[in-house]
Amino acid sequence: MNEAEMFETNRNTWNAKVPVHADSEFYDLANFRKGKSSLNKYEMEAFGEVCGQNILHLQCHFGQDTLSLARMGAKCTGVDISDEAIKLAKQLNTELKLDAKFVCCNVLDTSQFVSEKFDIVFTSYGTIGWLPDLKP
Ligand SMILES: C[S@@+](CC[C@H](N)C(=O)[O-])C[C@H]1O[C@@H](n2cnc3c(N)ncnc32)[C@H](O)[C@@H]1O
Repeated sequence: MNEAEMFETNRNTWNAKVPVHADSEFYDLANFRKGKSSLNKYEMEAFGEVCGQNILHLQCHFGQDTLSLARMGAKCTGVDISDEAIKLAKQLNTELKLDAKFVCCNVLDTSQFVSEKFDIVFTSYGTIGWLPDLKP
């Protein structure tokens, strides 16, 4: 399998996981919709004050952390390779009347799709293990 085929397999696998995760206790979408943040205490502490900051969230899945940061007043852009994840992230953004942007692309190609500058670039657990090379 070449690298392009590996990324395509990964995209398809994550696409299939989106509805399962969206329905799961772990992601707790019902309470998220009511205003609960998906960020952990240690993430909140590491961020500090985010209001007014431009944040790029890499491998954002269906955007809960991105949207949690947007609720705190940050200007957020989320990137993910899964079109199903980005579709749900955009739906949630509209439903919750937030102003985050979501871009579907391979994280290694982000600079081809996103040209703004950011104050903070964030990625969290369950992400870098999917990447063959962190240098790009
Ligand atoms: C475990 S999830 C991230 C979960 C996130 N920490 C959260 O709590 O919602 C991993 C994400 O990485 C994305 N991903 C995997 N490989 C990627 C790549 N090459 N480019 C962009 N996104 C990728 C998947 O589509 C998936 O949404």
